Amino acid sequence: MRTTKIAGVGYYVPEKVITNFDLEKLMDTSNEWIIERTGIQERRYIEDDTGASDLGVEAAKNAMKMANVEPEDIDLIIFATITSDYFFPGSSAQVQEKLGMGHIGAFDIKVACSGFIYGLSIADQFIKTGEFDNVLLIGAEVQSTALAFDTEHRDMSVLFGDGAGAVILQPSNTDSKILSTHLHIDGKYVKELWTEAPASRFNPRISKQMLDEGRQYPFMNGREVFRNAIVKFPAVIQEAMEANNLSIDDVKLIIPHQANYRISQAVAKRLGVGMEKVYSNIHRYGNTTAASIPIAMSEALSKGKFEEGDIIILAAFGAGFSWASSAIRW
Ligand SMILES: CC(C)(COP(=O)(O)OP(=O)(O)OC[C@H]1O[C@@H](n2cnc3c(N)ncnc32)[C@H](O)[C@@H]1OP(=O)(O)O)[C@@H](O)C(=O)NCCC(=O)NCCS
Repeated sequence: MRTTKIAGVGYYVPEKVITNFDLEKLMDTSNEWIIERTGIQERRYIEDDTGASDLGVEAAKNAMKMANVEPEDIDLIIFATITSDYFFPGSSAQVQEKLGMGHIGAFDIKVACSGFIYGLSIADQFIKTGEFDNVLLIGAEVQSTALAFDTEHRDMSVLFGDGAGAVILQPSNTDSKILSTHLHIDGKYVKELWTEAPASRFNPRISKQMLDEGRQYPFMNGREVFRNAIVKFPAVIQEAMEANNLSIDDVKLIIPHQANYRISQAVAKRLGVGMEKVYSNIHRYGNTTAASIPIAMSEALSKGKFEEGDIIILAAFGAGFSWASSAIRW
């Protein structure tokens, strides 16, 4: 059976920097509160009329450059996002058109913060079976336009940022490969982290009353998220290690979804490792949902935090609740 390697990784974040002090001007919050509870100092927001596909295209260009492939080499696009440009169709279709990739298959997946690892698992299957040789996987989000900057929604509004990361997956002819992926979801927590409307189960999908009630804004039960995240993150990392007979000493770097710095600290503590083994850039980008892992992976690689032959573990937890991991030999 063939194996899959990550041949290229890249990211893109919008230029506009929003600091905690900028948020202080918009609503009742403080730099101290945000840093103490989340670790975030700043995040990036798009300028007007930019969609997730625009960010994804730039990240894809960077990943293709590293993999040394051209748009016409790509066989399939998978786009992980919960903030697609339009209600339908998915942003993957726009990426295909913008990059002139021809009439290849392209689809979106919507598994929030775990979306990138779900996408990695899907791409891995297509490569392993021999169906495709070059899969473009993007994680991209425009969260800023979904946020409400008022007291009621400030817990969510300080957390999120915009950005995109992308990888090119190819068959491997060396030891560099995706060793395993592990996917989980527990649907009983759907309403603990969600955006309720607009939605197909309402007729009409959106109404003035719903807008007045603020049901179009993301809602989070922060404590429930925190409690579950600090258990599921270590469990799914452990699962990846056990599946590959690895000990924590074999792992060069853990790259978690950048949910919240306190969550990453709690995960490191439970795994018995220092923060130098758990990559973090949340202080600069906030939580970028499906984009955070490929952005972090790309940054960590360019900083020399891991290199060919090293084992890294990607791990995610988020809405669903979903959680996932992947062990990779780079
Ligand atoms: C959101 C989170 C930081 C809140 O921290 P917390 O210690 O649970 O804080 P609480 O919810 O008890 O809120 C404490 C107070 O801060 C206030 N507060 C909430 N957001 C605030 C903000 N942005 N600025 C200032 N105060 C804020 C609350 O209103 C509350 O005030 P009160 O005590 O007067 O009622 C925390 O629950 C968390 O990290 N959860 C996980 C979030 C996450 O990672 N989500 C992404 C998942 S992918």
